[in-house]
Amino acid sequence: MSRRAFLATAAGAAASASMRAARASAVDERQIKVAPGEARLNGADGPSTAVWTYGGTVPGPALRLRQGQPVRIAVENGLDEDTTVHWHGIRLPNAMDGVPGLTQTPIKPGESFVYEFTPPDAGTFWYHPHADSFVQIGRGLAGPLIVEEAEPVVVDRDLFWLLQDWRLAKDGQIAGGFGSAMDASMSGRVGNLVTINGTVPADEGVRAGERIRIRLANACLARMIALRFEGHRPVIVAIDGQPCDPHEPQDSRLVLAPAMRIDVVIDIQGDPGSRHAVIDDFYDGLGYTLTNLAYDKAPPLRAHPLAARLALPRNPLAAPDLGSALRHEIVLQGGMMGGGKLAGIGGMMGMGMPGMNGGAAWAINGMSMTGDGHAGMAPQFTLERGTTCRLTMRNETAWWHPMHVHGFSLSVLSRNGSPVPHRQWQDTVLLAPKDVIECAFVADNPGDWMLHCHVADHQMAGLMTVFRVT
Ligand code: C2O
Ligand code: CU
Ligand code: CU
Repeated sequence: MSRRAFLATAAGAAASASMRAARASAVDERQIKVAPGEARLNGADGPSTAVWTYGGTVPGPALRLRQGQPVRIAVENGLDEDTTVHWHGIRLPNAMDGVPGLTQTPIKPGESFVYEFTPPDAGTFWYHPHADSFVQIGRGLAGPLIVEEAEPVVVDRDLFWLLQDWRLAKDGQIAGGFGSAMDASMSGRVGNLVTINGTVPADEGVRAGERIRIRLANACLARMIALRFEGHRPVIVAIDGQPCDPHEPQDSRLVLAPAMRIDVVIDIQGDPGSRHAVIDDFYDGLGYTLTNLAYDKAPPLRAHPLAARLALPRNPLAAPDLGSALRHEIVLQGGMMGGGKLAGIGGMMGMGMPGMNGGAAWAINGMSMTGDGHAGMAPQFTLERGTTCRLTMRNETAWWHPMHVHGFSLSVLSRNGSPVPHRQWQDTVLLAPKDVIECAFVADNPGDWMLHCHVADHQMAGLMTVFRVT
C-alpha cells in the first residue's frame, strides 16, 4: 500500500471511529404523531378500515434503538381524546412510563409530550397507549420497538411479526361495544381477524438453507396465540426481550399471550419450492392457518445449517438475592365462574353490576383498581430500593391472565411448584386458570409501578394494582 493510500485509510478509520463514538453518545431524536387514519387490513385490494395510527400506519413505525444510547421521542396527540405512550418492557425512569395520572399527566388532544430514556436492555419490545386502552389498542395503536444488541446473533434475516386482532363488523369497520360486561368478565374482546404487521398475511417467502430470526409480539387486546411452524423447529432465544437459554418450545408450540414477545431462530431446512403452514391453535377447535412458509425454488443457500451459536448476550439485570428476599403475594380473583355466575367480588367493592360501566369484575387481593392508572392509587406493597422481592402470583379464577409488571423484568422461578428452566426473565407472565407462579426481582427502579393483566378488558375492570419502590 502506498503511503498516501495508507494515510487515506487511516484517516477514514479514525473518522468512522469518531462517528461511531458520536453516534453512541448523541441523543437519538424521534417523532411520532398519533392520529386517525385508514388501513387495508385485507391487503392492498381489500376495503379500507378507519383506524388510529402512530405515524399514519398500523402498526406504527418500527423504532430501532441502540442499547445504552439516549433517545428522545416527541409524541404529538392528534386524537380527540387523551393518550400516553407506554414503552412496554423497557426498564426506564418512572416519569417516562406513560401511565396517565400515576406517572404523567395525559397528553391532551393537540398537545405533545417528550419521552426521554436510555434503553438498558437489548431485545424485542413494543409501544402502545396506556389511556382508554381497550379502545386505543383495539383501534390499532401499537408499534414494534427493537433495541439492537451490540453483537447480534448471526442470522440471514431478522423479521418482526407484530400480531394484532381486530373485531370487524360486516361493513369492514371496527365494531363498537368496547368494554362490554361479557367481554370484561370472560375472555376479553377477542376479534375475528388476525394481522401480521397490519395485513392478513400472505405467504412468508423463505430460501432453503437460510437462518431467520423472527421477533414475535402479541399486540392483541385479548387473543391468546399458540403458533406451530409445521416441518420446522424454532428455537426460543429470548422471551419478553430478555435472552434465555436457547430451547425448543414444549409441544412445539409458541404460546404468546397479549403483550408477550418471543424471539425465535429457525433454520429453514425444507425443500426448495415446498410450503409449510404456520398454525395458531390456542383455542380448542378453533385452529387456523395464520400464514405459510413458502420456499423459493432456488437451491439451498448453504449445504449445512449455520454453526454460529444461538445464545444472545445477557442484559444487565440485577441478580435476585433469594436468601434475603421479602415475600409478597398477589391473588387474582373474580370473573365469570361455572354456570354463568360471577365470582363474589361485587360485594367487596359494592360498585354496582360487576363489569358494567367501568365497574369491577376482577380483583387483586380483594381490591379492584379499574381503568388505566390514575393518581392516588394506594400501593399494594412498598419495597425499599435494592431489596429482592419474591413474588407469588396465584390465579384463583377460571380464566387465563398474562400478568405484566412495569419497570422491571421478573426472574421466573417456578410454576405450580416445578422449577422453570432456561433462566427465563419476563415482564409478562401467563397464568393458566388456577396456576401459581413464583418469581423474583430486585427493586432497583424507584417509583409507583403498575402490575396488571394485559387482557385490556380485565385490566380496565379491576385486574390491576400498583406497588411502590422508595
Ligand atoms: Cu403493555 Cu401497562 O402495559
Ligand atoms: Cu408495560
Ligand atoms: Cu386477565
